[in-house]
Amino acid sequence: MNAQEIRKKYLDFFVARKHQVIPRASLVPQDDPTTLFTGSGMQPLVPYLLGEKHPAGKRLVDSQTCFRAEDMDEVGDNRHTTFFEMLGNWSLGDYYKEEQLTWFWDFLTKAVKLNPAKLYVTCFSGDQLTGVPKDTESAAIWKKLFAKKDIQAKEVEIGSNTTGYQKGLQNGRIFYYDASKNWWSREGPPSNMRLGEPGGPDSEVFYDFGTPHDEKFGTHCHPNCDCGRFSEIGNSVFMAYKKTPKGFEKLPKPNVDFGGGLERIAAACQDSPDVFQISLIKPVIEGLETLSGKDYEQHQAAMRVVADHLRAATWLGVDGVAPSNKAQGYVLRRLLRRAIRYAFELGIEQHLCEKVTPIIASLYEPDFPQVKERKNDVVHAFIKEETIFRQTLRSGVRELTKIAKRNKHLTGVDVFRLYDTYGFPVELSLEEAYLQKVGVSEDWHHDFDRLMEEQKKRSQTASVGMFKGGLADHSEAVVRLHTTTHLMYQALKNVLGEHVVQRGSNITAQRTRFDFSHPGKVRPEQIKQVQDIVNEKIKEDLSVTWKEEDTKEALTSGSSGAFGDKYGEKVKVYTIGDPKKPFSREICGGPHVEHTSVIGEGGKKFRIIKEEASSAGVRRIKAVLD
Ligand code: ALA
Repeated sequence: MNAQEIRKKYLDFFVARKHQVIPRASLVPQDDPTTLFTGSGMQPLVPYLLGEKHPAGKRLVDSQTCFRAEDMDEVGDNRHTTFFEMLGNWSLGDYYKEEQLTWFWDFLTKAVKLNPAKLYVTCFSGDQLTGVPKDTESAAIWKKLFAKKDIQAKEVEIGSNTTGYQKGLQNGRIFYYDASKNWWSREGPPSNMRLGEPGGPDSEVFYDFGTPHDEKFGTHCHPNCDCGRFSEIGNSVFMAYKKTPKGFEKLPKPNVDFGGGLERIAAACQDSPDVFQISLIKPVIEGLETLSGKDYEQHQAAMRVVADHLRAATWLGVDGVAPSNKAQGYVLRRLLRRAIRYAFELGIEQHLCEKVTPIIASLYEPDFPQVKERKNDVVHAFIKEETIFRQTLRSGVRELTKIAKRNKHLTGVDVFRLYDTYGFPVELSLEEAYLQKVGVSEDWHHDFDRLMEEQKKRSQTASVGMFKGGLADHSEAVVRLHTTTHLMYQALKNVLGEHVVQRGSNITAQRTRFDFSHPGKVRPEQIKQVQDIVNEKIKEDLSVTWKEEDTKEALTSGSSGAFGDKYGEKVKVYTIGDPKKPFSREICGGPHVEHTSVIGEGGKKFRIIKEEASSAGVRRIKAVLD
């Protein structure tokens, strides 16, 4: 069964168990200053896990595109990728452990037919800090499920990862680990969590590829060992707690947050630990083999980096990111540059993006209409970036040669400059230095790390600055369209229903673009109704005011927020109309006009110029003031 079929099986499996399929959220979280990328399936669902009502109900399922920039340097082995799809299902205060573990087990053993003898599971060993007890309940469910397949599932106490290497497998099936391994929150173990953050104990399933243990990692192998024999293919988080000043309190209702890497499940289905051989990546590797005239077998690490980075880059491009020197754009630029440099080593000296990006897009087009829609723009932008970078690359090599001639060795400052200005990966500078027979100063790491740290802070600041105001561009035309967008959002809810939730928005001086959840086409008469409402509200000259509110208060008192938002403790809430009987209330950073009549100055009218599908279950509207 290939990866595309597994994705479909998974969605169908949970739909048959009364789940609603929700569209993936963008890789770029909307109006979220705290994080640059969507890195897990639950990220867009945090408000709902904390108790907000979700418009699609209590049982949700999806395949969420995820990107983890922090893994960029790990790519090269057979299982690390920066981009992946996370299959996810959620119970928002509905079903719990029994259903979740049984269903995931059935999915693995019946729907995609994995051999149960190759599955191993872990459970939470209990913890004093949280007061959350040992999860014997999950272990009992697992025992029962294994027993049905005639497998005696022995329970083994492990503790931490370190003790795992001492204790080893001990013929166990069910392994208890502490909070460092079997507790999940966006911020990791309980001690790392911010106040207000939800989390809980989890239970993971591992697939045994049966490859020999590598003692480089530790004396004995165990499920969480990094040698590659075991691969985690799914994690059921029992998200039932919230960190508060008084300790870990139970949420109003316990939730299930499940996430499983599609690529890894697909690798397990092939019984081969190399995720780069699955149907969603193999064609990319084959493309690289053709372009370079080299074999994957002999050039695995470089081909994996190129394939991974171009996949991630393509998806970032689909979600509207363009190469730049700031925030997400900077990360995209790094991905592309690293891909181009590694491809260069493979002998691919031109046309990398032009040839490979379309292969990647073709693998996703049938299932994600957005990919088809954005493909040409993305390819175009990447070709431009490649052209610029190839020139830079040549000057970088020249620069390095110059330094080498002058100083006879590279310093940490040189390595950083080559990295930052010329996009040279560190290992490339070191290799290039070696090729040119120049030394590298012994403590180069010292200066390099310091400069990297400073640069990281700079890019974080840049990203916070970009979102804090809500809008990057504060020109008059953009601000008018911003307030208009709030009016339109409310009008869409009034006309279509409360299921309309913002999924993205982008405003330029010429137009506003707004994505929102809605199952079908917005009919012409509905478009007209929305237009009429907005124009009426402009004419009524409603006041636009804002107030800082407690996040919880804001969310419970009926303010809209973009789907996918994650909030701090205080938020700014914009109200249009009489605050006692507002037309619209939205959590937003602003800025806005103070009175709606400003929007209509000069006889301007609101007009929707386009309505189209954006992705499954998401519509996109473009509108202007003219
Ligand atoms: N949120 C959990 C994870 O990312 C399922 O592993």
